[in-house]
Formats: sequence, structure tokens, C-alpha cells
Amino acid sequence: MSNLSAINTDRLPKHIAIIMDGNGRWAKQRGKFRVFGHERGTRSVREITECCAEIGIENLTLYAFSTENWNRPKIEVQTLMKLLISSLKKEINTLIDNDIKLSAIGNLDALPKKVFSELNDVIEKTKSNSRMTLTLALSYGSRDEIVSAFKAISTKVKNNIISPEKIDEYIINEHLYTRNLPDVDLLIRTSGEQRISNFLLWQIAYAELYFTDVLWPDFGKEDLYEAIVNYQNRERRFGKTSEQLT
Ligand code: IPE
Ligand code: IPE
Ligand code: MG
Repeated sequence: MSNLSAINTDRLPKHIAIIMDGNGRWAKQRGKFRVFGHERGTRSVREITECCAEIGIENLTLYAFSTENWNRPKIEVQTLMKLLISSLKKEINTLIDNDIKLSAIGNLDALPKKVFSELNDVIEKTKSNSRMTLTLALSYGSRDEIVSAFKAISTKVKNNIISPEKIDEYIINEHLYTRNLPDVDLLIRTSGEQRISNFLLWQIAYAELYFTDVLWPDFGKEDLYEAIVNYQNRERRFGKTSEQLT
């Protein structure tokens, strides 16, 4: 277990992204329904969000619901959507008190109207906050995001707004849902699974990956500190040699 004093505040990741996984297994271990795990998971969301803001992390992106998660049993999807609405209502003050701006990425049009409007309400009410940006990935799939970027760019090419030779990494980046965010520095996945599950494929090109066996409802401040300390002990070479970095 790490504590706050172990973190070097001069070398914080600017953007942490988390695949919040293991809610179902957490509930199952306790002989409860999966939804119980999702409910507990919202506690971790609050704790980790507040903690990131306190440490000075500028961007936190949470994978809350994937395009593939639509294929779960209808009742689970409905419960997750309801939980989303109640959490947004409940946590708006946490966001305001901590000067956190809410944002969302994903195919948001696919969300139920109630979720969409509640989400927009909180986004609107927190838009001037500046301490940290909390981005929820909802109905998010990285391939879906890349497909929509391709469509938007090809439309611009067709209408002579962009010439094909001008397409570069910057332009592609500008057409992703994450256009306002820096690249991910640290990607955390809980629950022991070591896969990306269609999350931020472009944006994690040079992210440091951190996998922990802790299930999301159990993931707390100390676990986050530990992930950050681990990140800070790595050498990010970006293709260069160690010697070049010094
Ligand atoms: C993550 O927990 C939450 C969502 C994907 C919505 P899971 O629901 O995937 O939990 P496990 O992986 O089944 O334990
Ligand atoms: C990834 O978790 C999506 C979210 C955390 C929202 P899953 O539990 O859906 O991922 P897979 O299907 O096991 O890879
Ligand atoms: Mg899972």
C-alpha cells in the first residue's frame, strides 16, 4: 500500500484513464446480484474522482459503459442506466464542490433520453469548472469512434475542406471524441483482466499500462496512489534511448 507522500507531485500523469472492471464478480463473491456490485462501484467512482482532483490530476477518464455492454441482459443494461441517472443527480454537488468539469465521450445518441438529458444538465452546470476534467466513456467503443472520425474526415475531403495529403495525426486526433484531451499517460484496469476491451486505442499509443487484481468496488485511494507511484518509477522513453533522456 502506498500513501500520498510517496507521490512526486512534479511528475504526475496529466491524464489517467481507468477501465473500471469487476463489479459483477465483487457481488457474486458476496452471493449478491451483479447490480449490487455496480452500486458499490459508484462509491469508488466518487472516491477516486475526489482523490485525483486533490492530488492535482488534470484529466480523469472512466470507462463506464462500452458499445459491447449493450449486449448484456436487458435488465442489467436498464439497471446500469438507472444507476447512471441517480449517480449524476447525486454527485453533481461533489463535482461543483471540487471544481470538476464533467464531460462525456461515446455514441451518446444511443443513450436513453433521460440519461442523455441528465448528463447534459450536469455537463452544462459544471462547464466553467477548471480544476479537473472528468470524462465518462458511455456507449463508448474505440473502433466506433475511429469509424465516426473516418466519416467526418471523408465528408470534409469530399467537400474540399481537407485535402487528402493534409491528413495527419493531428487531424485524426481532432476528429476523435477525445479531441479536447491530451493523450493518456496512465491506463489502469482493475479486476485482473489484462486487455483493453475497445477503450481509447488511439489515445493509449504511449500510455503506461497498469493492471491490478483489485475489483473496482474495492479500489480506493491507496490503490490509486500505488498505481501512480508505480507509474512514476517507470522510464518513458518514447522510442529514444535512456541516455538521450538525461
Ligand atoms: C464493470 O464491471 C462494469 C461495467 C462493465 C459496466 P463488470 O460488470 O464487467 O464486472 P465483471 O467483470 O462481470 O466482474
Ligand atoms: C469493459 O469491461 C467495459 C467497462 C469497464 C465499461 P467489460 O467487463 O465489459 O470487458 P470484457 O468484455 O470483459 O473485456
Ligand atoms: Mg467485466
